[in-house]
Amino acid sequence: MRLLVAGGAGYLGSVLIPRLLDRGYEVDVVELFWFGNHLPSQVGILNKDIFHLSVTDLKAYDQVIFLAGLSNDPMAEYSPSKNFVLNAAAPAYLGYIAKNAKVKRYVYASSCSVYGYTENELYDETRPVGSSYPYGISKLQGEQAALQLANDEFSVICLRKGTISGYSPRMRLDLIVNTMFKTAMRDEVITVNNPSIWRPILSIEDAATAYIRALEANARISGVFNLASGNYTVGEVADAVRSRLEERMDVRIRLNMKHVQDFRNYKVSTDKAANVLSFHPTGSVQSIVDDLIRNVDKFRDWDNTLYSNIQTFKALEERLEIPSITSEVGA
Ligand SMILES: NC(=O)c1ccc[n+]([C@@H]2O[C@H](COP(=O)([O-])OP(=O)(O)OC[C@H]3O[C@@H](n4cnc5c(N)ncnc54)[C@H](O)[C@@H]3O)[C@@H](O)[C@H]2O)c1
Repeated sequence: MRLLVAGGAGYLGSVLIPRLLDRGYEVDVVELFWFGNHLPSQVGILNKDIFHLSVTDLKAYDQVIFLAGLSNDPMAEYSPSKNFVLNAAAPAYLGYIAKNAKVKRYVYASSCSVYGYTENELYDETRPVGSSYPYGISKLQGEQAALQLANDEFSVICLRKGTISGYSPRMRLDLIVNTMFKTAMRDEVITVNNPSIWRPILSIEDAATAYIRALEANARISGVFNLASGNYTVGEVADAVRSRLEERMDVRIRLNMKHVQDFRNYKVSTDKAANVLSFHPTGSVQSIVDDLIRNVDKFRDWDNTLYSNIQTFKALEERLEIPSITSEVGA
């Protein structure tokens, strides 16, 4: 089976794609390589923007995965106009040309951010979505556009992921567990902005497994699926990172507790992914910390700007080729 992964050289793609190759899939990526390329050499490369693909380009593929766009709130808020183009229009366009090219399935990287601020109840996929911030709104728009295309010949699977953490060859240190790990190791401090806020945490290995389950699911399956390894409060995540690191490394870590208002608070049920996709996560904050410890020598240059999406994006922004979208929403 031949797959095209848009944004495949990013944080998640750099872990997912070696696992796809290992399973015997042929994989090409379409990429702008904002963060470089850490993919195995057998991956086929289309070095271009999604918007420069045509229906003809997609005829060779059985399934298409969307992992591109601006992948966090700070990037989305820094440039709301580019956010809506890259997170809402790009997945809609890619899904549209994929369907016209007779691709059989489109797997879209959605986010639990679509839920916005909820009142401490467990949310399944039937609950209302409520984000009023650029990232959450645009991820929902991408999802809705993709689902709009689904029919008996074209399956669409939208994976609403919790915050991913763990080691990737394309490393990010701007994701909750990874950030806590970095400051704990570098400064012996973990800052907790708001300990009572709920966040679903997804280990990067569980995230990759979920994409494999989606690709291999029965052809008639379409829909939206929450994904998490577990639901934690931010205070609980900090406790787990601290105790695991103190157990495994020679460090004593201080918690710096704050009570900053957050606009995201949600915990999600993953029963639908378990029942329909056979997704059974095995990760936890502890296993993520173990993964980071195993690989720490590969990303000890903690302040490398490539590990921060917003820092890299600011540096690249002037050069981003996004036709006719130049104005920013007011400050
Ligand atoms: N990382 C998380 O915690 C998380 C959680 C929920 C959802 N998601 C979603 O999952 C996806 C993957 O996340 P990630 O952390 O791997 O992101 P990432 O920022 O590491 O990678 C995104 C990649 O997409 C490429 N790209 C962006 N726009 C493109 C375009 N128009 N054409 C071609 N390539 C383009 C970039 O070069 C980059 O390599 C994103 O869509 C993100 O919104 C991520």
